[in-house]
Amino acid sequence: MTTARITIDRDFRVGDVPRRIFGSFVEHMGRCVYTGIYEPGHPQADERGFRRDVLELVKEMGPTIVRYPGGNFVSGYNWEDGVGPVDQRPTRIDGAWHTIETNAFGLHEFVDWAREADVEVMEAINLGTRGVDAARALVEYANHPGGTAWSDMRRANGAEDPFDIKVWCLGNELDGPWQIGHKTPDEYGRLAQEAGKAMKLVDPSIELVAVGSSNTGMPTFGAWEHAVLNHAYDEVDYISLHAYYQEHDGDAKSFLATATDMDYFIESVISTADAVAAQRKTKKRINLSFDEWNVWYQRGLDTDDQPHNVERSWRTHPRLIEDEYNVTDAVVVGTFLNSLLRHGDRVTIANQAQLVNVIAPIRSEEGGPAWRQSIFWPFARMSQLARGSILRTAVTSDKVDTAKYGDADVVDVSATWDEENGTVAFFLANRGLDERCDVSVKLGGFTASGISRAEVLTIPDGGTRLTTNTQDAQPVGLTPLEGVTADGSTLSLQLPALSWAVVVVDVTRA
Ligand code: AHR
Repeated sequence: MTTARITIDRDFRVGDVPRRIFGSFVEHMGRCVYTGIYEPGHPQADERGFRRDVLELVKEMGPTIVRYPGGNFVSGYNWEDGVGPVDQRPTRIDGAWHTIETNAFGLHEFVDWAREADVEVMEAINLGTRGVDAARALVEYANHPGGTAWSDMRRANGAEDPFDIKVWCLGNELDGPWQIGHKTPDEYGRLAQEAGKAMKLVDPSIELVAVGSSNTGMPTFGAWEHAVLNHAYDEVDYISLHAYYQEHDGDAKSFLATATDMDYFIESVISTADAVAAQRKTKKRINLSFDEWNVWYQRGLDTDDQPHNVERSWRTHPRLIEDEYNVTDAVVVGTFLNSLLRHGDRVTIANQAQLVNVIAPIRSEEGGPAWRQSIFWPFARMSQLARGSILRTAVTSDKVDTAKYGDADVVDVSATWDEENGTVAFFLANRGLDERCDVSVKLGGFTASGISRAEVLTIPDGGTRLTTNTQDAQPVGLTPLEGVTADGSTLSLQLPALSWAVVVVDVTRA
């Protein structure tokens, strides 16, 4: 048995929970849109072709904001192709994913779907093959009330009221050589500045996300953010971060500690952004939009479900990167969400990539069922229960010795205080692969009066750490966490080996 001691205090608040950190991502990639959220003719589809079974799961999972339409896809996309009468929309080649795009689904359909799913739209523009003019036209089309050519076109296409989209991404991963329209930091910084300026001239209320680094291993990481913000600091509100992680060569210990890299990434980008602020002598702060993150098992390019297998014929909605997630992945995803939440004073938008089928918490089959993957659960519970203020957490615990990140705390945690409902929620991961962990929490400034929820995700009976959910059986999920006690200002619990848990304590002020 390992041990961990956690301390919180009512007065040690990081900030309010930014609800947009529970975001997700829908890209025109693989089967995320087609046969994911949208499948006319499916027995569960509504009259617009939206899959009701998928919508139900989306609502249960609780994303707050959804990025659209890409991803790499957006860097070769003409948004005009996806509006107007469906039978007149062009069929195009999507070079990013080697796919045929029919454009049957576009901006209006996504806005309608988002309303149905009760999520905010986060729209990405194409700064790969296009530029300032297409960007400002799209803002006018989407957000201007009417009486101009672009806004009247929206109205003629069936949407009388503006879409009022607030958050816009100025392109996608343009630091990456794989990106259509890849740019140097200065080329991109100037383009983002000018596109952003023109977009805000159309609608000054919008918030803009500049492209940051595609991961911490990019050769330009750090220099990219610095150069881009040097150009576009006054025009933009956020800088983006993307990161995907996976277990390598069975090294589960390092994999379970990868939130360490997420912490490092976030803290480095905050430092860089604030260094630019200091140089500019401005009080304005640039926040972080971690708008792609997840576990992704990136296999060889010759694997059939990998996008760049150019031997394949061009297809519509091919099966691409439909990773099946296991127990270990779910625990790791819980630690990613903890990392984002702990930095919630500066990471104020985050999007798990993606929502359905493509490296996703929700899976669906064409003409068949939809189901929850293991990684669905930490997201769903945290989106539901992380409310109010984020509390600082101090951890003194046994360590896990990892090859990649050195010593890591065996327990990873984040905590929030919902003052209105008188509860403190803890989100905990036990990284120990073999041992239970005895956890005691000192509740500074609070008196506990009961436990209103205690649930755990761990290896199911008869399973292993690699057990996954399939369309036939979903053994990985939440079960009650027994034996949680709260006595005055101490909370005590035991976490099973390799587990993720949520505990909600009823509190009053001490
Ligand atoms: O989410 C899958 C892809 O990963 C996105 O299209 C791209 O932005 C990233 O490289």
